[in-house]
Amino acid sequence: MMAMRASRVARAARTTTSTRAAVRRPRAACGAAAGGDCGASAGARDGTGPWNTPPLALDDGLYAYLLKHTRESEVLRALREETSALRGSQMQVAPEQGALLALMVELVDARRVIEIGTYTGYSSIAMASAMREGGVLYACDKNEESFAVARRYWAKAGVSDRVVEKNGDAKVSVVELLEEHGENSFDVGFIDADKRAYREYYEALLKLVRPGGLIIIDNVLWYGKVADETLEDKQTLAIREFNAFVASDERVSYGMVPIGDGLSMCRKR
Ligand SMILES: C[S@@+](CC[C@H](N)C(=O)[O-])C[C@H]1O[C@@H](n2cnc3c(N)ncnc32)[C@H](O)[C@@H]1O
Repeated sequence: MMAMRASRVARAARTTTSTRAAVRRPRAACGAAAGGDCGASAGARDGTGPWNTPPLALDDGLYAYLLKHTRESEVLRALREETSALRGSQMQVAPEQGALLALMVELVDARRVIEIGTYTGYSSIAMASAMREGGVLYACDKNEESFAVARRYWAKAGVSDRVVEKNGDAKVSVVELLEEHGENSFDVGFIDADKRAYREYYEALLKLVRPGGLIIIDNVLWYGKVADETLEDKQTLAIREFNAFVASDERVSYGMVPIGDGLSMCRKR
């Protein structure tokens, strides 16, 4: 995930209590319990309504509240700090996404996980820490520099023995893993690399992941660009097309969650 991620976390950390109180008021006046109709009427106006539950606008104050109630280990926090000074820091998953990924890994009692897009290691540590002893996470990335940072933090987090590096083009790595382990051999796959290859990664993971296993995809809301039809850059088009495909793919049960830059969660049927 992107620029938004890191800067938003930093802004939220700076948000004061008084700011939080100030931003809460308008929502309370607008909410269903207060008899407000802002969400419902907005839905009716643009033809998608009724919105019986108005969507939540996550301003900095509310985001700070969310972070305050998010579990994050000291090691992950330190990694977030160090990464914030690096090029591409906006690519790191947000803390609340890390916590959700960990929960998903734990829920399916994952023994074998593949991550496509590791960067400095935040999501890999979140997931590997949630695996029981003997679990293995295959971390795929093509950037040796960011692997060097990830390696240090895998050690600090005590998960080095659960992580196998796959350094190189992830399109090649998924084929190698398929040859090595066979179909239905993974419990969880997480896609967070080059957006234009999402469909290719998704199809590979549908082979690798077992029925009942999860395929989780990041950046599906792509800074909100997916909903702006005036934007037609290649990455936005690719994600839009990918989302439309997954939404009607009967091979998976599926939900799209507006957390971070948007996560899609698929359970292979
Ligand atoms: C969004 S970042 C991953 C962030 C990571 N999940 C985290 O929590 O910090 C995307 C990563 O994908 C890697 N990447 C992009 N295209 C790739 C490819 N074709 N093969 C392997 N890695 C790739 C980049 O080097 C980058 O580190």
